Amino acid sequence: MKTILCIGAGYVGGPTMAMIARKCPDIKVIVGDINANRIQAWQSDRLPIFEPGLLELVQPCRGKNLFFSTDIAAGIREADIIFVSVNTPTKTFGEGAGMAADLQYWEKVAREILANATKDTIVVEKSTLPVRTAEAMARILHSHGGKPHFEILSNPEFLAEGTAVKDLEAPDRVLIGGATTASGQRAVQALADVYARWVPRERILTTNIWSSELSKLVANAFLAQRISSINSIAALAEVTEAEVDEVARAIGMDSRIGAKFLKAGVGFGGSCFQKDILNLVYICRHYHLNGVADYWEQVVRMNEQHKARFVNRIVSAMFNTLAGKRIAIFGFAFKADTGDTRESPAIGICRRLLEEHAELVVSDPAALDNAKTDLRGAAGVTFEPDPVKAAAGAHALVVLTDWAEFKALDYAAIHRDMAQPAFLFDGRNMLDHQALHTIGFNVYPVGKPPLTHL
Ligand code: UDX
Ligand code: UDX
Repeated sequence: MKTILCIGAGYVGGPTMAMIARKCPDIKVIVGDINANRIQAWQSDRLPIFEPGLLELVQPCRGKNLFFSTDIAAGIREADIIFVSVNTPTKTFGEGAGMAADLQYWEKVAREILANATKDTIVVEKSTLPVRTAEAMARILHSHGGKPHFEILSNPEFLAEGTAVKDLEAPDRVLIGGATTASGQRAVQALADVYARWVPRERILTTNIWSSELSKLVANAFLAQRISSINSIAALAEVTEAEVDEVARAIGMDSRIGAKFLKAGVGFGGSCFQKDILNLVYICRHYHLNGVADYWEQVVRMNEQHKARFVNRIVSAMFNTLAGKRIAIFGFAFKADTGDTRESPAIGICRRLLEEHAELVVSDPAALDNAKTDLRGAAGVTFEPDPVKAAAGAHALVVLTDWAEFKALDYAAIHRDMAQPAFLFDGRNMLDHQALHTIGFNVYPVGKPPLTHL
C-alpha cells in the first residue's frame, strides 16, 4: 500500500492522519478538505485546531509524507485507502430534524469517490454515523456495476479532544468493522496492518461492520450516561449536605463501576455525545423500540435540565435578580485544552444569563473566537482574554470550563476588585472552595451545599 487519503481535515481527520504519517514513513498521507482556509492553516504553524502536541506531530512529516490539499479528486485517483471524516451534524430540517444525522456531506463524498476513483479502493467510515450508513455508502459506490471494486470499512474514532495525540498514540483499542466476505476480510487486514505499526495486535479489534458502527454510538452513550447519572446525584447532594465528589470517589473505587467519567459539572458538551445519543434514539424509534429510545433520550434530557438548574441556582443565590449585574464567565470551551465550543454548555448558560439582563464578560484561553461566533448578535456580552481583567468589578465569577489556568489565579486579589458581596459558581468543582470562602467569596460548587457569608 502506498497512499492514504482522508477527506475531512477536522478534529478527527487531521490528528489521525498526522499520527499515521508519523508512524508509517513509507506511506504517503494526503488530507483533503473543501475548505481552503482550513487547508492553508494545516500548512502553517497556526493549525486550525488547538490540540496539545499536535504541531510537534505534524511538523516533521509535513511536506515529506504528509500533505494537505483541496484537490480531493486528485487524492481519490491516487489513494489505496480513503478515510471519510466529514461532519455529520444533527439534521435541522425535514424528517428527523433535531434527531437524525444530516448525511448530505457524507453522500456528496461517496459520489465524488465514485466519480474519480480509477482503481480498487478501500473506503473507511471515520465519521460517527448512524448504524447502517455503510449500506447507503455501498449502494452508491456499487451503483456503477463493479469496476473498480470498493470495499467499505467502519473504523470509528474514540479519541477525545484535548488528549487526541495521546489517545492516538496509545489507544485503548482500535475497532475495525468489515464485510464477512473474503475481500471484506482482506480489507480489514490491510487497515489493521497500518495500525499494527504502533498499536499492539491484541488491541486491534475486528468485528462485522454493523457492530462497529453501533459500538461507537454505544460507547458515547454510555460515557454520557455516566455524566448524566452523576449530575443527577449532584442535584440531590446540593440539598442533602452530601458532597457529590465524595460520592463519586466512593462509588468509583468499586472496580465494577470505575473512577472515570464521574466528574459532576455543568453538563456534558462537545460534538459527539448529544448527537450520538440522538442517533441511537432515532434508530430505536425507527425500529419501534420506543421504550429503548425513551431510556436513552432521558440522558440528553437530564443534561438539559442540569444546565437549567445551574442557571436557576445562580439567579436565586444572587437575590433573584441579575439585571445590570456584571458576571465574569471563566471558560467557554466544552472542556479544557480545546478551543472547540460545539454544544458547549457555556452557550446555553450564557444565553440564559443574558435573558436575565446580566452583563457578561467572557474569558477563555483558546475559545474566544468561537465564543464570539456562538454569541453573535447577543446584547450585553464582551470578551476579555485576561480572566483577572474580566473579573474586575464583577458581582460573580462563573467557572464553566476546567482550564488549569483558572486554578493558578490569585483569587484574593480578584476578590478585592469585585463588587461585594462577591459570588463564585464553580461549575467544574475545580477550585479550593474552602480557601475561596475564607477569602470572602460566597461559593456555590456543583453538587455540594454552598459556603456563604450571607
Ligand atoms: C448486587 C450487587 O452486584 C452488589 O454489589 C450489591 O452489594 C448487592 O447487589 P447481587 O445481588 O449478588 O449483588 O447481584 P449480582 O450477582 O451482582 O447481579 C445482580 C443481577 O444483575 C443478576 O440477576 C445479574 O444477572 C444481573 N446483571 C449483572 C446484569 O443483568 N448485567 C450485568 O452486567 C451484571
Ligand atoms: C468524546 C469521547 O470521549 C470520545 O471517545 C469520542 O470519540 C468523542 O466524544 P470529547 O467529546 O472530545 O470525546 O470529550 P470528552 O472528554 O469525552 O468530554 C465530553 C464532555 O463531558 C465534556 O463537556 C466534558 O467536560 C464532560 N465531562 C467529562 C464531564 O462533565 N464529566 C466527566 O467526568 C467527564
